[in-house]
Amino acid sequence: MTPRAPTAILVSGRGSNMGALIEAAQSPGFSAAIVLVVSDDPGAPGLALARKLGVAAEAIDFRAYGDKLSFEAALDARLAAAEAEIVCLAGFMRVLSASFVERWKGRLLNIHPSLLPNLRGLDTHRRALALGLAEHGCTVHLVTAELDAGPILAQARVPVLPEDDAASLAARVLKEEHQIYPQALDAFARSALANRLRDEDRGLAGRRA
Ligand code: GRF
Repeated sequence: MTPRAPTAILVSGRGSNMGALIEAAQSPGFSAAIVLVVSDDPGAPGLALARKLGVAAEAIDFRAYGDKLSFEAALDARLAAAEAEIVCLAGFMRVLSASFVERWKGRLLNIHPSLLPNLRGLDTHRRALALGLAEHGCTVHLVTAELDAGPILAQARVPVLPEDDAASLAARVLKEEHQIYPQALDAFARSALANRLRDEDRGLAGRRA
């Protein structure tokens, strides 16, 4: 059987990217297995969608914790219990602390609705229109402590059309998000698994020597 990297997804809302990741991971040969979905909001529609798609999903209610660090400690413990090796943010609306990001360094992915490094932060579609950009898009990147600034793994471009409003532009970009996020996760997980095998081989070779 193809080895698969156990992967968790964090959501705060509708979870359409999460759904695209789960569905892609159900195809044979995909390099990641989605083992858990967590939301910081018990009301997130993404939780029900994940369960419908057959994935364990639970809320760690941010409001039940006094502060970000204790919320993140609970989140980290849950991810560790699920033995997640990769974490994908998919519309997760909280900025994670530098210590959490450091702990998951090189294993934490995000999708952002702009062609980074342009338009970091929120409200990207309205800002793209206000700037009169001819082109817009989305980016999958590794998360680092600086917001929306980590190494880029994949991008897709779409044209901005004269008749666009923020909603029509968002819909065009979202379609691309659903393509590139699964592709990027598959490639990322494949290379993480290959690196792990190589390291294990080296360790074995080292012990034999
Ligand atoms: C997407 O546009 C994603 O790029 C951004 O948040 C939105 C989440 O949408 N980070 P969904 O919950 O995946 O439908």
